[in-house]
Amino acid sequence: MAIATEISPFSQQEIENEAERLLNRLMHIECDSRRSWNIDTCREIAPLTLEINQLKAEKDAVILAHSYVEPEIVYGVADFSGDSYMLSMKAKQANAKRIVFSGVVFMAETAKILSPEAEVVVPDRNSGCSLADSLTGSDLRKMKSMYPDAAVVCYINSTAEVKAECDVCVTSSNVYKIVASLPQKRILFVPDRLMAENIRIEMKKLGIEKEIISSDGTCIVHDQFDPNLISEARENFPGLKVVSHPECTLNITGKSDYVGSTGGMMQYVKNTDAPYFMMLTECGLVERIEVESPEKRFISGCKLCPFMKMNSLEKIRDVLVDPRQEQIVELEEDLRLRALRSIDRMFEIAEGEPHQPNKGC
Ligand code: 13P
Ligand code: SF4
Repeated sequence: MAIATEISPFSQQEIENEAERLLNRLMHIECDSRRSWNIDTCREIAPLTLEINQLKAEKDAVILAHSYVEPEIVYGVADFSGDSYMLSMKAKQANAKRIVFSGVVFMAETAKILSPEAEVVVPDRNSGCSLADSLTGSDLRKMKSMYPDAAVVCYINSTAEVKAECDVCVTSSNVYKIVASLPQKRILFVPDRLMAENIRIEMKKLGIEKEIISSDGTCIVHDQFDPNLISEARENFPGLKVVSHPECTLNITGKSDYVGSTGGMMQYVKNTDAPYFMMLTECGLVERIEVESPEKRFISGCKLCPFMKMNSLEKIRDVLVDPRQEQIVELEEDLRLRALRSIDRMFEIAEGEPHQPNKGC
């Protein structure tokens, strides 16, 4: 939590108005056990959100924030918040000199691939991802040499080096549609072993014959949920709906009422009439729904991503004022262009017709 210790350039009235604007959004949050939002906590951060919003205009910057980062970022300073697919779209369309990507490093790299003219910066260079960091380009090249006939599909949670080795990139919002549309029977899917398991099940359900080979990465947040929690919660809360992400184990997704991307889960909860929801995903998403649909009720169960939580208002302010070299995302042009091919291919299929088997790769 930011404490305003310096003399603020903003008037008391401006700070008060900003604190009320923040409170209007943040007061609905109950999921956050680390702090509670009231007018005093909003007054503490108001000078910082005012400063960041002013800096954005001065520096011609846009802030993209993943739904898992802290709510004061999402509702205080972000221009767009959403899942990795939506934010990739926004990065592609961004017409700004600077993009501050408040999320994790692979997402900022994706923004740089899509918006090479912009200066893309990250608030914290250490905000990695257990999935993206599980596989290098050279690891993937070795795998490809073992399966030369396979279509190479990479989850967006991967480095630019890995994306440059792929035929097509996917996100959790379009993975089934894209895998189903590929003509190859054999698919090399990296780097998420658990998502690969979920793809196998989904393809079987769709009656589509695919052999899915994967590497061994997992998400250190979504691989942690205990399936016993679901049975206990269902007994105690009749009518409960369980929602999970396809990075979870089959023990979790198989027992869920809805499995989907961050954006998909949010839409499902907003559009579903149920007395309670259990969200087996990152807590930031629960906070977003609490703000936007305060009538929804949640049973505890979500977890925190330590990488997403490295983002803070202070770091966003600092990177806007004067980015350090390591905070600026830079990619070698040949690598960027090769990675871009796999992302463009994703947009092409994801935005196209439903399922088109046997269309050329
Ligand atoms: P989304 O594509 O659902 O945003 O997922 C990204 C992610 O990192 C989930 O853990
Ligand atoms: Fe990576 Fe998991 Fe964090 Fe998403 S939640 S950024 S997959 S570690």
